[in-house]
Amino acid sequence: PAVAAVIPAAGRGVRLGPGAPKALRALGGVPILVHAVRALIQARAVSLVVVVAPADGVAEVRALLDSNGLPESKEITVVAGGDSRQESVRLGLAAVPDDFGVVLVHDAARPLVPVETVDAVAAAVRAGAPAVVPALPLADTVKEVVPGAAGDPEPVVATPERARLRAVQTPQGFRRDVLAEAHRTITAEGEGATDDAGMVEQLGLPVVVVPGHEEAFKVTRPLDLVLAEAVLARRRA
Ligand code: CTP
Ligand code: MG
Repeated sequence: PAVAAVIPAAGRGVRLGPGAPKALRALGGVPILVHAVRALIQARAVSLVVVVAPADGVAEVRALLDSNGLPESKEITVVAGGDSRQESVRLGLAAVPDDFGVVLVHDAARPLVPVETVDAVAAAVRAGAPAVVPALPLADTVKEVVPGAAGDPEPVVATPERARLRAVQTPQGFRRDVLAEAHRTITAEGEGATDDAGMVEQLGLPVVVVPGHEEAFKVTRPLDLVLAEAVLARRRA
């Protein structure tokens, strides 16, 4: 089946601090979003990329992609996003033509994902898995707490066994009908789902994990941007 990639890029990037929307901020002199689009386009299986832009930034994002020398052999469309990541993914998915049987969903905020990770996720879906997520073991021990006000001590509820935990990344890969059904059925609360595979789990369908990559980390806070610049400099050396 043909493979399309949806790239949600409509977030403001509040945790990164004041400035342009996160996907448009520079990394190595190039917008974060352009890195992410390049990473997905490099995957042989991917023939269409749908970028989900801030609703007031569709024309700007279109111009940005047109002026950054991306290969014309692959189609790139730009659509307007919504108020939550979940809504943005739903809007992006609606722009994928029916003949695409596999959809990858990739955060624009993960600009340095290696093409090998993209290939591995696409291959696992093509091999028959309905939903595939790349993930890594955790370095830190994780505790469940009763959340309190910022700064207040929080009672610990449990310490899940670290060896059984994985930190999930993107691209997450799906049979198209499975992702569409999840977005039809699972209704958003508050910020919406932070993870597309979690919505598939709620449908009761199996989700599998394949190895992620440390360079597929999400640029979330200012320190992540420092790390991303360093990774890029190492690649260019
Ligand atoms: N996203 C989106 N539409 C939204 C919110 C988020 O397309 N309404 C996208 C972001 O652009 C990002 C990805 O979802 O590529 C992952 O979200 P996150 O890292 O949380 O980015 P932001 O929501 O922009 O950051 P923050 O939560 O700090 O504001
Ligand atoms: Mg967010």
